[in-house]
Amino acid sequence: MSTHIRNRRLTVPQLVAMKGRQKIVSLTAYSSAIARVIDPLVDFILVGDSTAMVGYGRASTLGMRLDETIAHTRAVVDSTRLACVIADMPFGSYQESHEQAFRNCAQVLALTGCDAVKLEANQALASTVEFLVARGIPVMAHIGLMPQFVNVMGGYKAQGLCAESSAALRADARATLQAGAFGLLLEGVAEPVARAITEATDKPTIGIGASPACDGQILVTEDVLGLGGEHVPRFVKQYADVAQVISEACARFGEEVRDGTFPEMRHCYGV
Ligand code: KIV
Repeated sequence: MSTHIRNRRLTVPQLVAMKGRQKIVSLTAYSSAIARVIDPLVDFILVGDSTAMVGYGRASTLGMRLDETIAHTRAVVDSTRLACVIADMPFGSYQESHEQAFRNCAQVLALTGCDAVKLEANQALASTVEFLVARGIPVMAHIGLMPQFVNVMGGYKAQGLCAESSAALRADARATLQAGAFGLLLEGVAEPVARAITEATDKPTIGIGASPACDGQILVTEDVLGLGGEHVPRFVKQYADVAQVISEACARFGEEVRDGTFPEMRHCYGV
């Protein structure tokens, strides 16, 4: 389905059906302003828990709160009408028990109107994926480099670089897909492993630092725009320098306020 002829929001089954027909394009959004602009350009928008770092300046994604996820997802859904919207479930909101996961995912779906949730879900979480899908919650499983495991990994490290890690990743993919995940997000996965996982399933894989063979690609929008801060991961391609544009525009505003050339009479009322 081309983004150019779409006139309704893309559904999860339509997203799945794109595999093998058309590459899936995705970006993150946390705010109404960005969501409005990217809505006609992407197939799905992820309200990532990267909000914690990109939007709030926190050191990791671990501090993202459920109420924040709900508020940002709601803003994105309310500001869009074409892209499928997927909410990223925050750390601690789904790992405790099946019941806790269902309660929180159901709340996110019901209060935001989003289409699906994404969980950082390896084999250990496969039964949670199954529990959710059986109860009406579409789940995308995020495997590979899972930022919510930063303390276990001791940093952000690409996965699948040795035989053992590659086998574990394939098992994560198999287990979560068998549990009913409608797709996989592969982050920081060795290229041959991402390619093999993609070829082994009829469900879409979305890569970030994975492989061009994936069925789609996602990046954090702020990284694409050059607003991502100092550390730019290897997998990012920056398509614009919006930080420079903001800096120049705001500097000119400052100069004009200081030298009295802004505002002009045409910006005033009752003149
Ligand atoms: O939180 C996020 O932005 C993500 C990225 C991998 C896209 O999960």
